[in-house]
Amino acid sequence: SNEYLNEPLRPQFHFSPEINWMNDPNGLVFHDGEYHLFFQYNPAGNSWGHMSWGHAVSRDLVHWQHLPLAIPESDGIMAFSGCCVVDHKNTSGLGIGDKPPMVAIYTGHGHGKQVQEIAFSNDNGRTWTKYEGNPVLDLNESDFRDPKVFWHEPTKRWIMVVSLANQKVLIFYASSDLKHWQELSRFGPAGFPSKPNWECPDLFELPVEGTDGKKLWVLEADMGSGSVAGGSGGEYFVGHFDGVSFHPIQDAQWVDYGRDFYAPVSWSDIPDQDGRRIWIGWFNNWETCLIPTFPWRSCMSVPRVLSLRSLQGSNESSPQRYVLVQRPVDELTKLRMKSITLPTTGAAWPPKTVTQVNEVPTMCFELESTLVVGTARSCGFRIRTGSDEYAEVGYDSETQSVYVDRRHSGNVSFHPAFAGRHDAPTRVVDGQVRLHVLVDRSCIEVFINDGEAVISDRIFPTSQQPSIEVFAGDATASVSDTKVHLLDSIWKQ
Ligand code: FRU
Repeated sequence: SNEYLNEPLRPQFHFSPEINWMNDPNGLVFHDGEYHLFFQYNPAGNSWGHMSWGHAVSRDLVHWQHLPLAIPESDGIMAFSGCCVVDHKNTSGLGIGDKPPMVAIYTGHGHGKQVQEIAFSNDNGRTWTKYEGNPVLDLNESDFRDPKVFWHEPTKRWIMVVSLANQKVLIFYASSDLKHWQELSRFGPAGFPSKPNWECPDLFELPVEGTDGKKLWVLEADMGSGSVAGGSGGEYFVGHFDGVSFHPIQDAQWVDYGRDFYAPVSWSDIPDQDGRRIWIGWFNNWETCLIPTFPWRSCMSVPRVLSLRSLQGSNESSPQRYVLVQRPVDELTKLRMKSITLPTTGAAWPPKTVTQVNEVPTMCFELESTLVVGTARSCGFRIRTGSDEYAEVGYDSETQSVYVDRRHSGNVSFHPAFAGRHDAPTRVVDGQVRLHVLVDRSCIEVFINDGEAVISDRIFPTSQQPSIEVFAGDATASVSDTKVHLLDSIWKQ
C-alpha cells in the first residue's frame, strides 16, 4: 500500500524510503524490464549509520516498489556507495546457466580502511551473495571509495572509475572478470580549486544535441562541502575517454545550482533501442541533511535524461563550451491530470495571485512558462504561498540568474545554513528565459532553458498552501505561455 506517502511533506513522484535514513543512489541498473534503484540506507534509524543497500524497483521510473534490504552491513564492514552491472557474458563466472548475473561493485568500509567488494544476484536482484574472495581491490587506504563500472566495448573489458576521496584523485582500472583489476591512469586533483574531496564519480558518453551523432564523454564527481550553493554538490568535465585515461577539453562546471542535488549516478544497461542516459541524485545536502521529516529522511531527485549542448560564446570571455543538459524523464507526464493555461501577466509588484490549485490538493504540479524579462529588475513566481510563507522562483536581471529563494518557505530554522537564495547563471535568449518547474510537496526542481541549468531545493512549508502568484517587475516584462499541470498523487493510486 502507498498509504505511508499520505503526509504533507512526503514527495509523491520523488522516491523516498518508507522509514529511516537514506543517502546516495547506488547500483542503478536496468534488467529484465525493471529499473533497479539501490541506495545508501540505515536499516536501524533515521540518521546516518549501519550503511547498507536498500532496494526498490520500477517499470516506469514513476512508481516504485520497495524491496527488502539487498546488501547488509556485516562483520563490522558497511556497504558504502557503488554500482551494479549485468554481466551479459558471465565474465565473472558468478552466473548460473544462461541467465546473466547482476554484479554489484561497492565499497566495504570498516576496520580502518575502504576497499572494493563485489556481490552477485541470480534472481533479478531479489537476493544477494557477497563474493567469498572479497575484497577485489585493496590499497590499504582509508578514503578509497564509490566505484562506478561499465563495459567498454572498444577494448572489450570492464572499466572502473573510483575515488581516492581525500586526495581529489580518481583512479581508472580495467578488468576482464570484475574480480581482478589493473590500474590504467589517474585524474586529478582538478576542477574548482580548494574543495576538500571527490566522491561518487560517474563516467559516460553523451550525444551532442543538434549534431549528427557526435558524442563526448562526461566525468562527474562530488564534493562533500564547498559547492556552488554551499555544502555538498557536484562538478563535471567534458572531454574524451580513450579506454585508458580521461582528457578534459574544458574547465569544470557545476552540475546543479541548488543546494539539494548530490552524488548523482546514471543507470547502467539501458537497452540501445532506448538509448537514453538517465541519472538520479540524492535530493539533500550533507550540511543540512537532518531535515525535519520523521520517521524517514531524504528523497531522490526525479530521474533526468542527459545530453550535451554546445553554447556559442558571445565574446572572448565566454568562449564556446559544452554544457550538461538535464530534463525530467517523459514518463512523468503520465501523472498530469489536468492542465490550466494562465493568462499572460504583465502585473507589476506586488505579486498577485493568479490561480488556486485547491481543486487538487496534492501540492504536486508542474509549471511551464516563458519569462519575457524586459527591463524589469525581476519577474517570476511565488509558489506554496500562505500566511507569510512562499518560495520564490524568478529571474533577476541584475545578477542575470534564475533563482530559488527559500528564505520564507516555511520551516527554515532547523539548520542555520538552510534559508537562502540559490542562483543559476542564465542565458536570456531573444529576450526570454524558459522555465520548467516541478513541485512535489517539499521538493522544487527548476529546469532552465530546456535543461541547460537546474536548481534543486527542498522546502518545508508549515501548512497546505496551494496558491501560485506571479510578478513581472514593470510593464516591459511579462510572464507568458504559462501552463500549470496538476499531477496525480501517487499515494492514492
Ligand atoms: C557520499 C558518501 C560516499 C559514501 C557514502 C556513505 O554521500 O559519503 O562517498 O560511499 O556516502 O554513506
